Amino acid sequence: MTMRATTAMPSVATAARAQVQVSLRAVDKEFNRTGRGGEAIHALGPIDLELRQGEFFAVVGPSGCGKSTLLELVAGLSTATRGEVAFEGRPIKGRIPDGVGVVFQEDASFPWLSVRDNIAFGLRRMKIDPRERERRIDSALAMMGLTAFAQSYPAQLSGGMRQRVCIARTLVTEPRLILLDEPFGALDQQTRLLMGDEVLNLWRKTGATVFLITHALDEAAMLADRIGVMSARPGRLIDIIETGWSRDRDSRIVQEEAFGAITARLWRSLRSESLKSIGKPEAGP
Ligand SMILES: Nc1ncnc2c1ncn2[C@@H]1O[C@H](COP(=O)(O)OP(=O)(O)OP(=O)(O)O)[C@@H](O)[C@H]1O
Ligand SMILES: [Mg+2]
Repeated sequence: MTMRATTAMPSVATAARAQVQVSLRAVDKEFNRTGRGGEAIHALGPIDLELRQGEFFAVVGPSGCGKSTLLELVAGLSTATRGEVAFEGRPIKGRIPDGVGVVFQEDASFPWLSVRDNIAFGLRRMKIDPRERERRIDSALAMMGLTAFAQSYPAQLSGGMRQRVCIARTLVTEPRLILLDEPFGALDQQTRLLMGDEVLNLWRKTGATVFLITHALDEAAMLADRIGVMSARPGRLIDIIETGWSRDRDSRIVQEEAFGAITARLWRSLRSESLKSIGKPEAGP
């Protein structure tokens, strides 16, 4: 059975085209550099992008091109130097909007809290009934395969399990938009593929939009409905690829011919940008 969408069954991304959840218009980000005569670093942009409600959007790009900067702008953790970023029609300003959950690049679990308390921490700002709170924690533990480790501490877990704790901590808030910054960066290839399956499961079950930053082309090709390819810094979107996968995909699609074609196109778009980012621009044709 092929897991690629057929023309008779349009992908969710196509069906949801009308519903824009996040929009970036002419967005630039510059950082001030101290001690160099005030010369600013142009980290990102200009970027124009719309994320559709419920889609899985991945961003790939060379190291240092501004991927985390882009995610921080959408998360409300940083403000654009120019342009406008909006979530559900409202400008994002200075704080994480309600309905948005973030999982950061580094392991951000709290070593002094048990797995259960780490997850409960995600709910600290929300006023919810204690029974509902416990229900959400149990459900996030189960979804991330952590039920048996609820009383363990992060130091007793593997890197992948700690990252699942961080995802569960975000899940309990029931976000409509989940932002993931290289959440599997530290994992081996097999675990990354399996974690990818878990993220696909949670995307299907929650109906949330997922915005995933990754440097792994295969991860983007397997998980996303659409993949944005960024240039070397200042990061701009140089290509957007529609994968056409059906919603019930899983890591087995890596065996499909279409998967190879997507990763090949990603690398075609990215190769010269990656060379630039390490200071070795492409020579000749
Ligand atoms: N707070 C900051 N102050 C100054 N410069 C910054 C700051 N944050 C990021 N930068 C600069 O902006 C650029 C983009 O950084 P960013 O972290 O967004 O890249 P990235 O694509 O996420 O890289 P990586 O793939 O290594 O995670 C880099 O040149 C970085 O030095
Ligand atoms: Mg980054």
